[in-house]
Amino acid sequence: MRNIVAGNWKSNKLINEGQELINEIAKGLPSLDSTDVIIAPPTPYLAHYSRNFVATNGIQFAAQQCSANSMGAHTGEFTASMLTSCGIQHVIIGHSERRDRFGENLDVVRAKVNEAIAAGLHVLLCCGESLDVRESGNHFDLISTQLSDAFQQVKVAQMSQITVAYEPVWAIGTGVTASAEQAQEMHRFIRERIEEWYTVKTAESTRILYGGSCKPSNANEIFSQPDVNGGLIGGAALDAKSFLSLIEASETSQKHSQ
Ligand code: 13P
Repeated sequence: MRNIVAGNWKSNKLINEGQELINEIAKGLPSLDSTDVIIAPPTPYLAHYSRNFVATNGIQFAAQQCSANSMGAHTGEFTASMLTSCGIQHVIIGHSERRDRFGENLDVVRAKVNEAIAAGLHVLLCCGESLDVRESGNHFDLISTQLSDAFQQVKVAQMSQITVAYEPVWAIGTGVTASAEQAQEMHRFIRERIEEWYTVKTAESTRILYGGSCKPSNANEIFSQPDVNGGLIGGAALDAKSFLSLIEASETSQKHSQ
């Protein structure tokens, strides 16, 4: 199974700065034998980038979210089908920043997943616990709830459109990374839940990414865990050199696991 290294730019970079960054990344890309590279820039640039960089070997684009509604009178929203009409193949849903700051509760996340699946998008579904939840020992229950709720209407055949991203909130943008053991433990737990809810084959073929202060200095260790299939990267995706070294780390971990 191929890894994914995805860069979530969040609300960073102006359009030309982003373009330069993509050019630099494209120039330095190694041959992508076993890694899919996805970049999630701010939404206003998506159609432009996907058109301009269509010839850029290997880089795919994602939106950082989409509407929970389909087309209609929803001022300011953009639907999943609008993304596919712009040539976008991927969407991040359920990022903790959206859950915490923009009122995306379980119902909203589930509705967004359903819209994205129906539009044919590949979903990077985020889950993750706060420090309070981890310290109270309820992190496995919370992750199980976040995922089982989001998967309610997702059929087994549609699971090929889902990648899970485990992003402990206490590790996002803090410089504190989950240890390789903590990441592996949670990724294993997630894979076991997918097996319980779907099939062994689905569990084995679903990619589970780690996110949260993932950087060149810790990527080798994290990516080499058996149930870690790459990363969802924030800060380190804003610099070509560090993003490229995360892609290299993914390629290396895949070679060692063969
Ligand atoms: P950082 O890599 O900056 O911690 O962000 C992770 C993240 O939220 C990616 O979606």
